[in-house]
Amino acid sequence: MEKVDTKVFENAIWEIKNRLWIEKVVSEKSLYEDPKYSFLLEYKEYLWKIDASDIIWEWDNAIILKHKTKSDKVIKIAKDWKVDSLKDEYENHRTFYNTLEKWRPNNVPDNIRIAEIDEFIEHKKWIYIMDKIEGQSLYTWHYKEKYAEKLAIYSRENNIDINKVTDSKFIQILDELELWRVIWYNANLDMWEKMYQKELGAFRNWVVYRDDVQQALKYLEDNWLEHIDLHSKNIMASLKNWKFIIYIIDFGKVKINK
Ligand SMILES: Nc1ncnc2c1ncn2[C@@H]1O[C@H](COP(=O)(O)OP(=O)(O)OP(=O)(O)O)[C@@H](O)[C@H]1O
Ligand SMILES: [Mg+2]
Repeated sequence: MEKVDTKVFENAIWEIKNRLWIEKVVSEKSLYEDPKYSFLLEYKEYLWKIDASDIIWEWDNAIILKHKTKSDKVIKIAKDWKVDSLKDEYENHRTFYNTLEKWRPNNVPDNIRIAEIDEFIEHKKWIYIMDKIEGQSLYTWHYKEKYAEKLAIYSRENNIDINKVTDSKFIQILDELELWRVIWYNANLDMWEKMYQKELGAFRNWVVYRDDVQQALKYLEDNWLEHIDLHSKNIMASLKNWKFIIYIIDFGKVKINK
């Protein structure tokens, strides 16, 4: 029998708990009224009447919301216990953005991008605004490919465009199709093992296999791997004119040798 990595297993349990939480949130009228989101009250002047459809992402450490007025921006807010690290994350994000732009004329593949940061607000807690990436994580791309047939049927029946859903919504869909549990509980842990090894090279082969993706990932692997918490949920990709644009996100765990 295949040995199950306990870390992977613990993460599975944790994700199930989180899923239940997301379900609860989606059923709430206004997030401010939910005690779990009371921390958002601190930011009320920057936000508006939020409801569940404004959530782009909701997880353990952060919440990512649509911007109040600008449709091409998102706002990232750290949950209470992550406040200090969001400040570092903001600095790291900026450093990486500048470094990338400095190197770009030389040898950086032109399809690697980092969302530009607009402004940084200090208001007891930390919050920052960045460009909205119109794309999906490599995690989502991977499973779109793997379960293409089932998802095609689901999309027809529910009249949705699977290429337009957020990563959170995609996880919900996998769950509805009872694929998510399959991913966790079956022996099909290959992807997760690779993900938690945090080695891009290890998952280069299972991701949508295109030259432009490969080239970008190879570059990141060769150059920045030691600095970045790179895994399939921290890289987003969008398809524009048949070419994949690769966005690096989440600079929360980055240790830059300054
Ligand atoms: N600029 C962006 N535009 C659009 N979506 C984004 C953007 N940044 C992040 N996201 C979405 O939010 C998800 C999580 O973002 P991120 O990795 O920055 O959060 P995190 O720090 O890992 O939070 P947590 O640890 O709570 O998951 C991404 O996988 C992506 O779906
Ligand atoms: Mg992340």
